[in-house]
Amino acid sequence: MASLFHGLSCLIPILCIILLFPHTAISQTNITVGSFIVAGDDKALGHWLSPSGDFAFGFSQVENNDTFLLTMWFDKIPEKTIVWLNKEIGPVPRGSRLEVTSDRGLVINDQKGGFLWSTDTVVSRVTHGFFEDSGNFGLRDEYFETTWETFDNPTDTILPGQEIRKNGVILISRGLGSNVSGEGRFRLYLKNRTVQLKTVNLPGNYENEPYYSSNGSDASTSPARAVGFNRSTGYIYILRQNGVQSPLNPGIKVVSSQDYYLRATLEFDGVFIQYSYPKNVSAGERKWSAIWLVPDNICVSSFMTKGSGVCGYNRICRLGVDHRPNCECPRGFSLLDQSDDYRGCIPSFSQGCEVSGPSSTQDEFVLDEVANIDWPTTDYEVLQPFREDECKDACLRDCMCAVTIFGSGNMCWKKKLPLSNGRADGNLSKKAFIKRRKYGSELQSPGSPSSGSNNKNALIIAGSALLGSSVFLNFMLMGAIGLGFFMIYHKKLSRIFKDEGGLDVNIRCFTYRELEDATNGFKEELGRGSFGIVFKGLIDIGNDSNSRTEVAIKKLDRLFQESEREFKTEVLVIGQTHHKNLVRLLGYCNEGQNRLLVYECLSNGSLASFLFGDEMKPTWEQRVQIALDVGKGLLYLHEECSTQIIHCDIKPQNILLDENYGARISDFGLAKLLLLSQTHTNTAIRGTRGYVAPEWFRNQPITVKVDVYSFGILLLEIICCRRSVDIEIGGEDKVILADWAYDCYREKTIDALVEKDEEAISDSKRLERFVMVAIWCIQEDPSLRPTMKKVMLMLEGIIQVSIPPCPFPFSTITTV
Ligand SMILES: *[C@@H]1O[C@H](CO)[C@@H](O)[C@H](O)[C@H]1NC(C)=O
Ligand SMILES: *[C@@H]1O[C@H](CO)[C@@H](O)[C@H](O)[C@H]1NC(C)=O
Ligand SMILES: *[C@@H]1O[C@H](CO)[C@@H](O)[C@H](O)[C@H]1NC(C)=O
Ligand SMILES: *[C@@H]1O[C@H](CO)[C@@H](O)[C@H](O)[C@H]1NC(C)=O
Ligand SMILES: *[C@@H]1O[C@H](CO)[C@@H](O)[C@H](O)[C@H]1NC(C)=O
Ligand SMILES: *[C@@H]1O[C@H](CO)[C@@H](O)[C@H](O)[C@H]1NC(C)=O
Ligand SMILES: *[C@@H]1O[C@H](CO)[C@@H](O)[C@H](O)[C@H]1NC(C)=O
Ligand SMILES: *[C@@H]1O[C@H](CO)[C@@H](O)[C@H](O)[C@H]1NC(C)=O
Repeated sequence: MASLFHGLSCLIPILCIILLFPHTAISQTNITVGSFIVAGDDKALGHWLSPSGDFAFGFSQVENNDTFLLTMWFDKIPEKTIVWLNKEIGPVPRGSRLEVTSDRGLVINDQKGGFLWSTDTVVSRVTHGFFEDSGNFGLRDEYFETTWETFDNPTDTILPGQEIRKNGVILISRGLGSNVSGEGRFRLYLKNRTVQLKTVNLPGNYENEPYYSSNGSDASTSPARAVGFNRSTGYIYILRQNGVQSPLNPGIKVVSSQDYYLRATLEFDGVFIQYSYPKNVSAGERKWSAIWLVPDNICVSSFMTKGSGVCGYNRICRLGVDHRPNCECPRGFSLLDQSDDYRGCIPSFSQGCEVSGPSSTQDEFVLDEVANIDWPTTDYEVLQPFREDECKDACLRDCMCAVTIFGSGNMCWKKKLPLSNGRADGNLSKKAFIKRRKYGSELQSPGSPSSGSNNKNALIIAGSALLGSSVFLNFMLMGAIGLGFFMIYHKKLSRIFKDEGGLDVNIRCFTYRELEDATNGFKEELGRGSFGIVFKGLIDIGNDSNSRTEVAIKKLDRLFQESEREFKTEVLVIGQTHHKNLVRLLGYCNEGQNRLLVYECLSNGSLASFLFGDEMKPTWEQRVQIALDVGKGLLYLHEECSTQIIHCDIKPQNILLDENYGARISDFGLAKLLLLSQTHTNTAIRGTRGYVAPEWFRNQPITVKVDVYSFGILLLEIICCRRSVDIEIGGEDKVILADWAYDCYREKTIDALVEKDEEAISDSKRLERFVMVAIWCIQEDPSLRPTMKKVMLMLEGIIQVSIPPCPFPFSTITTV
């Protein structure tokens, strides 16, 4: 097929060249040979601009990394929107230099002049570079022919006026996580007279069946020659051999590129979306809005026989209101790689098929019933006619069975791992029964697959955003002004921040516009959490606009789509909390889809970086104080504030440190919001692997004791200055901190837990007390765990700590 196409469009080389460069004269910036830009050098030029200044072409710094990518972006839009990037070379070091040369085209050399990359397609001599207002950057030669251009080397985005004359791959979705310059799994192809969206199995390029295909594959349509974006009609079209433009999106509401920026991007989650962004405030809200997208329901249409489906293995794809997929792990499963949402989930338990080790019986497993969920491709057995109870029983008795689906006509489908193409669909008249272990521990068994980077910088790894020229700040490096400043103005703030409803809460309702201004258009990202992205901002306090204070503004992600009233109720609950060991909520914004929370800034980052970072380790005295602080904060949430708050996600990343290294709990009250908005997704587990209490995996009610459990794990981490699960640590028996700590306690070798920390060893009474309290907190049976009140009394030595029982009496985890 490829050669056929090739033959058709490029029969005569001369014709080809004419076809390839049809761009008519539009205003352009001319860049002379010898011009250059330098990556990350403030004194040198960092990028070139198109004549109107709409587009910039130059180096962008890679998130959390001192390397730079050659990119093109919309320069007048506050949130950096990259439309092109150089995947051939990927990130280059600071000081690298991009130059227009006459013999090798565009060339990148490193700081010492070492060659890194060039366009190198040049037979003739380049006379100048050009940068058009359409967003096309390229090179022309002495015959005034274009020798290289970005429009001809697209990445994941197509712009108005662009026409890509290629058969095969047109666009490739962006890589995930820090691998922005890598390739995603999704491709847009021009094939067989149609545009198709497909996934490929990486590495390699095996193409799965298309999950979207435009009409027109029949032989009566003229063969396809190019995919383009018509500037005046807004159509994304297939250019046919006969010159006709067949639109993919006929009937879209046409928006003029005079008033709007337009682009169409193959997103990292596989949805191909055409966006508009008003150039002028009077034309609408200043944000990217989808005006057209395919496929309409990627969860259902991404069905493929080889490959995982859109979300990865053992996952469930649920379509969001924005037609983007939300991927969930079934209960009892957790993400394989926290930094890559598409690698799938793995069960947190063993299936019980092992030949060696204690044999499992069916009593150790339960089935969770979930309606309207299916994995249509992983059947290994179909049973019929079968009643529902027989179907369930058949799965429980079969150690290979992971899920059974019972549906119409008394059919029973048994499915095995890994499950693929999982999706939630309101119209299936089927029930899924998902098998998991009753007494399974959420902790990893040694040797089970895991990502080494588990919770390393969990707040910043998600997503693929590039930060602009600003250096990525260490998480929560917020308080230049800091707490002291905040305290001075605290009284003032309290007076000013009155809720409009007249309720006596000292939080202020902001408009989205105010927060956009405060963050300079959401420019500086401080971190990414489980609930959204945190940006740095400056807000006015009082009428005097000179007194601005630094704040952390959390933009909640789209999971929070519940009703206005519920959101406000919860925010007010959070706003009513006042405790020195909680991060203060100063205000919020609730406008349509935009939900933001404004918090005070803390200067010393998160407990995670303090405990596990490579810098100075906290002293024993500091650690004791931090443990007591966190305990006090939790006690307040559970027992002392007017509405009880269960945190649900206590972990070091959610504990922030103020200027005196006083610990404060953040993100409390958000779990409730999330649960409210997820009434249909009772299969998804929030919380973070390693800190989640076992009852989350059982059919047991969630109480304040889940926080006590997480606090116990956290306490052990604080004592030992190490993560709860660390596969890199020497010795298999030490991998899981909880197991190891209990072993040390039982064998009376507690000193081993703190290694050579003399300060802690000399404080042996307190050390032992803390370890015992932690073991009480992590009891599998929630009723055995003490309340936070009792925990505090024990930690402070006010009451005696009795000898804790083994925390994992039911544990069936087998070692490898
Ligand atoms: C760029 O060069 C072209 C051809 O040499 C010329 O027509 C155009 O006016 C130049 N543009 C600018 C802004 O100098
Ligand atoms: C930057 O990224 C590259 C490649 O992804 C990696 O090799 C390097 O270690 C990273 N550097 C830092 C400072 O994170
Ligand atoms: C980035 O993605 C590419 C494939 O597109 C892959 O070859 C490369 O190994 C990835 N790099 C990292 C650091 O994961
Ligand atoms: C192209 O489309 C025709 C008609 O639908 C179909 O018969 C043929 O198999 C397709 N070819 C390829 C390579 O997909
Ligand atoms: C855009 O579409 C219109 C209407 O179909 C057509 O007349 C025009 O030539 C197209 N523009 C380009 C640049 O192809
Ligand atoms: C799809 O079919 C419609 C109506 O027959 C036609 O107008 C449109 O051009 C076709 N689209 C493509 C991409 O062939
Ligand atoms: C924005 O729109 C208003 C009203 O239509 C107009 O007066 C103003 O000049 C526009 N501003 C820009 C920058 O285009
Ligand atoms: C269910 O099916 C009906 C009719 O077949 C359709 O109109 C509706 O959109 C479907 N609902 C969902 C959630 O797919």
